[in-house]
Parts: sequence; structure tokens; C-alpha cells
Amino acid sequence: MQDTVNVIERQPWLEPASDTVQRGLYHAVNAGGPLGRRISDFLNGSRLGHPLHPAVTDVPIGAWTVALALDGVQMLTKARRFLPGADAAVAIGLVGALFSAASGLADWQYSAGRARRIGLAHALLNTTATSLYATSFICRLRGKRKSGQLTGTLGFAAVCVGSFLGGDLSYRERMGMNHAPDQEPPDDFTPVLAERELAEGALKHVRAGDVTVVLARRGGRVYALAESCAHLGGPLSEGTLEGESIVCPWHGSRFALKDGHVLNGPSTFAQPCYETRLRDGLIEVRGRPHQ
Ligand code: FES
Repeated sequence: MQDTVNVIERQPWLEPASDTVQRGLYHAVNAGGPLGRRISDFLNGSRLGHPLHPAVTDVPIGAWTVALALDGVQMLTKARRFLPGADAAVAIGLVGALFSAASGLADWQYSAGRARRIGLAHALLNTTATSLYATSFICRLRGKRKSGQLTGTLGFAAVCVGSFLGGDLSYRERMGMNHAPDQEPPDDFTPVLAERELAEGALKHVRAGDVTVVLARRGGRVYALAESCAHLGGPLSEGTLEGESIVCPWHGSRFALKDGHVLNGPSTFAQPCYETRLRDGLIEVRGRPHQ
């Protein structure tokens, strides 16, 4: 199966097609203004603290699996009592597929390189599956049971391959996962920078033990967060300060300086935040005991 993924990711048309679709999405979200941004954040799962897409994909996959099973039992037993359940499962899957598509596109708009190409192929396969299930549903409504079951089975095959690509995106490309570093700064306060080297309103990245930290000075206070953005690893020290928050330069996630919580997506995860103190003209950093 991995060979199939390798063939898919090398398709030359995926790159320009991804470019076009991503540009369209970018303009659509921007045209919606603050509301468009809020909807995009919701679809990313920023308000939930968990990516939305993997949760909603369970709806169509689960519902269509039920439909396949009920169709199979009906074919074996010829009992008509299984048909309404199969039809309802196909319909529920179609509604779930719309939410899955919207949340998937909201995540995919920020992808690049291989993840972007695989993501587009994943979306096309799932669109094919949804179209086949829509056809299946229409056939069922018109009493063309055999055609409905056949197109449903084809749709299930497409959704299986699409799901495999979804797994590749999560486990290989780490889409939707937390990209903040796993390492923690030292448990004890550790000097990282001379206080005079961090001007008011400035950002600077430094090492604190095994972890790279961004220092920010705001209102005379010094804050420390992990340098690598929890969304997709953007360098926060190249971002900007906005009031009491820091904005990632890559896709605009905004984190509170005081505790790293997400103020704006697309990040769904809070940014690790550390303790600081000023001692003998030096800025010192340590991990927070509860994090
Ligand atoms: S890397 Fe995407 S918002 Fe920071």
C-alpha cells in the first residue's frame, strides 16, 4: 500500500492543482473577514483544543460501514427489514462527509510539500466516495436497489483508500499533531540572556537546556514560550507581538504571553510557556512544574 502512496505523491499535476485550490481557499477565508477567520478556526478545532477533522471523519466512515454491513446481510438473507437502516446510514454518512470535507480543507489550507499533495489526493478520493454515495442514495430513493448497493460498495472502496492516505497525513506528515517541542527547559532557573539584550517589545530566541525558547519583553515583563509553534513548527521569534500576545509568522496563530493559550487559530494546541525571572542582570528560565 505504501508503494501506492509513493506513486500518488509523485503525480506531477498534484502540485499545480494544490496551488490553485489553496489560493482559492485563502481568498475565500479572507473574503469572509473576521467571521471567515472564526469559521476557519472552528473547523480547525482551535476552540475545542483538539483537531476537529479526525473526530468528524468517524461519522461517514462509521455510517457507511454500517450501510455496507446491512446491505450485505440483506443480500444474504433477502430480508427487507434491513433496507431502511442501510438507507439511513448512507444519508447520515453524507451529512458527516460534508463536515469532514469542510474541516479537512480548513486544515489542508496550511499544508505544504508532500503533505499538501497527499492531502489533495485524499480529498479527491473522498469526494469521489461522497459522489458515489450520493448516487447510491438517489438510486435507493428511486427503488433501484441493486445499483444503490453497487455504487455504495464502490464508494466504500474509495473511502478506504482515502482513509489510508488520511493515516499517512497524520502519522507520517504529523498533520493535526502538536508541533511544539517535547523537551522541557531545566527544572531550575537557568540564565539564558543578559537582560540588557532584550529591549522592550523585542523577541529573541535562546537555548534553555534542551529546548529553544522565545523570549518576549512586554510592559517591562519578560515572557518565555517554546520557539517552535504548536501548529506546524513556525519560528515564533520571527513573529510579532500584539498587545499581550505573540503571533506566529507562518499562519497567524496567536498565543497569550502569560500562559500560551490559543487566542486565534489555526493552532489547536496551546504553546508551552515557561517561568522567567531577572537575577543579577540576567534573564533566567525554567519549566513550569505543572506543565
Ligand atoms: S506554524 Fe502555523 S500558525 Fe504557527
